[in-house]
Amino acid sequence: MEYYDIHNHILPGVDDGSQSLEESMAMIDIAYREGTRNLVLTPHYMRGRNKYTREELRGRFVDFQDKVRDKYPDIKLYLGNEILYEEGVEEDLRAGLIQTMNDTKYVLVEFNIRISYNQIYQAVRKLVGARYRPIIAHVERYRSLFKHVDRIEELIGMEAALQMNISSVYGGLLDDDARWCKKLVKEGYISFFGTDAHDLESRAPYIQDYLGWIRKKCGEEAIEEMFVTNPEKMLRNEYLE
Ligand SMILES: [Fe+2]
Repeated sequence: MEYYDIHNHILPGVDDGSQSLEESMAMIDIAYREGTRNLVLTPHYMRGRNKYTREELRGRFVDFQDKVRDKYPDIKLYLGNEILYEEGVEEDLRAGLIQTMNDTKYVLVEFNIRISYNQIYQAVRKLVGARYRPIIAHVERYRSLFKHVDRIEELIGMEAALQMNISSVYGGLLDDDARWCKKLVKEGYISFFGTDAHDLESRAPYIQDYLGWIRKKCGEEAIEEMFVTNPEKMLRNEYLE
């Protein structure tokens, strides 16, 4: 299976992720060995605090893509942004300042960790109202969603898709966070996984150890849906099922 990683900070020198081409290439080496063949590079977008404009980002992306293609002709790269949701983000989207996922209507959106549920709800409503398709980045991180299946279902009902960081499924029975994550996965609430890789150490783009658990609990079909079929649909701007 040729896995997709739809959330990572591998594009060098643009945010708090990889700081050099060498580091980025070493991250790509890991991703390749892990079986990942398609990556959406998603540098942070923070209103008014970005190192590069969208155009500059695209230029740097094309340069990096050339380097990766030389070493791994079978890896495909795409570009997106991980957007920190703030007042006015919709205006920036409309003005074309933000890179959507592979130029589709899908946008990867993160929130402040302590955001209230009402604020998440309003943000999703606004984005959907503006005809975007929000993917909530690392949904397991927000305390206002923790153990609130009703809220999770409401967001999905509003056409938000949920992304989980793959390392979050790691943890034993006594680990409350890991238990909640596993429940979300098992019950089919998660549409996408990403590594959210930032470096070669604590946040490197490993997937195989975690895939083992998901495969055991949810089966191969679920893996294919979350790691291949859904990303393919998203990158073609199609609706998920
Ligand atoms: Fe991220």
